[in-house]
Amino acid sequence: MRVYEDGGRGGLYSISKLNDHFIPCDRMHFNLTPIKVNNSTKLDEKGSYFRAPPASVLNKQPSHWFQGRHRGGLVIKCKAAIAWEKLKPLSVEEVEVAPPQKGEVRIKILATGVCHTDAYTLDGHDPEGIFPVILGHEGGGIVESVGEGVTSVKEGDHVIPLYIPQCYDCKFCKSPKTNLCGRIRATQGKGVMPDGTSRFTARGQKIFHFMGCSSFSEYTVVSEMSVAKVNEKAPLEKVCLLGCGISTGYGAALNTANVPDTVAALVEMTDGGCDYTFECIGNAKTMRQALEACHKGWGESVIIGVAAAGVEITTRPFQLVTGRVWKGSAFGGFKSRESVPKLVNDYMNGKVMVDEFVTFMKPLAEINEAFDLMHQGKALRTVVTM
Ligand SMILES: NC(=O)c1ccc[n+]([C@@H]2O[C@H](COP(=O)([O-])OP(=O)(O)OC[C@H]3O[C@@H](n4cnc5c(N)ncnc54)[C@H](O)[C@@H]3O)[C@@H](O)[C@H]2O)c1
Ligand SMILES: [Zn+2]
Ligand SMILES: [Zn+2]
Repeated sequence: MRVYEDGGRGGLYSISKLNDHFIPCDRMHFNLTPIKVNNSTKLDEKGSYFRAPPASVLNKQPSHWFQGRHRGGLVIKCKAAIAWEKLKPLSVEEVEVAPPQKGEVRIKILATGVCHTDAYTLDGHDPEGIFPVILGHEGGGIVESVGEGVTSVKEGDHVIPLYIPQCYDCKFCKSPKTNLCGRIRATQGKGVMPDGTSRFTARGQKIFHFMGCSSFSEYTVVSEMSVAKVNEKAPLEKVCLLGCGISTGYGAALNTANVPDTVAALVEMTDGGCDYTFECIGNAKTMRQALEACHKGWGESVIIGVAAAGVEITTRPFQLVTGRVWKGSAFGGFKSRESVPKLVNDYMNGKVMVDEFVTFMKPLAEINEAFDLMHQGKALRTVVTM
């Protein structure tokens, strides 16, 4: 028996069909390669024959409904939205994704949210912004293959890439006070993998990674430290938003400010100031207003918005002397690898809202519209499916 694999979206074939038939190709991103499949081969064993489904059907079928042989050490050619230069629309085109090296994981991305931080970098406000780059950091996908030494995830696992990694070993990870793992911060900020190189090539040029995630690509490579394995029953085209936006806002209230009662905070607004304020737009003026709107003695203001390069905040020191607290929060203060799987389960159990944040769904080819909808204020989140 022979199976043709396609490297693209994967046809919708059940396990029994794979056993009996040739798998046709719905996308021609790869050379068709006939693969011999042994009759005794179990399709769901040890992840050898997983094929990621389109996100639109993922929540309806278990992942091993779909197959395709993993590409192991091979370069994958697929589609990605490339930001060639700042202030230009993304270009959806072919990219080569090198195999995962030691300690790395290659993920088939099924869906990704578009966050304002992507726009902020595309618009040239990010001091670390570097081009050409594959943006995106709110993805959900399935592990296609892993590099040497990777033990925490395996092929077929459903995962969310994390822009704040968790190595469990650095001084930040060991402190309960912060989630800001420092282990791969330097290389991540330079748009490369921890070994200093990139896994992406397009038009013969090296393409940089973004925030250690680069989810605007059908396949991406990330560090094992930047991967959360999540409940495979969760719809990835929804829970991808737990990779940034929802966790950030929810966690900023839950972890960073430890809001006991939001209603009480609102009541306080009319009587001396707010117990808690959150700045979510990255504007230094509103940051000041948010602090000064806090109640004397105990009000806390949390900065979430990312300000443009070189921007500084100001207030009178008196604001702090009289008991207001000014702090910031990244990724809601969640220690990423351990928290994201729990957040996904909280969503599955109805404790965390996610569906309500998906305003639009768009195919990768229309990713620039997702940016337009965000700039027009029409979308809480647009989820782009591959
Ligand atoms: N700290 C973190 O970990 C983290 C994570 C994600 C996003 N961010 C940052 O948080 C901010 C929000 O990101 P997002 O993806 O939710 O963006 P978004 O564009 O989806 O939402 C921003 C909202 O702010 C509103 N807004 C803009 N200017 C305003 C003003 N002057 N007054 C009142 N409302 C105003 C917009 O209408 C919009 O609804 C961005 O600065 C982003 O870079 C930070
Ligand atoms: Zn974000
Ligand atoms: Zn760490």
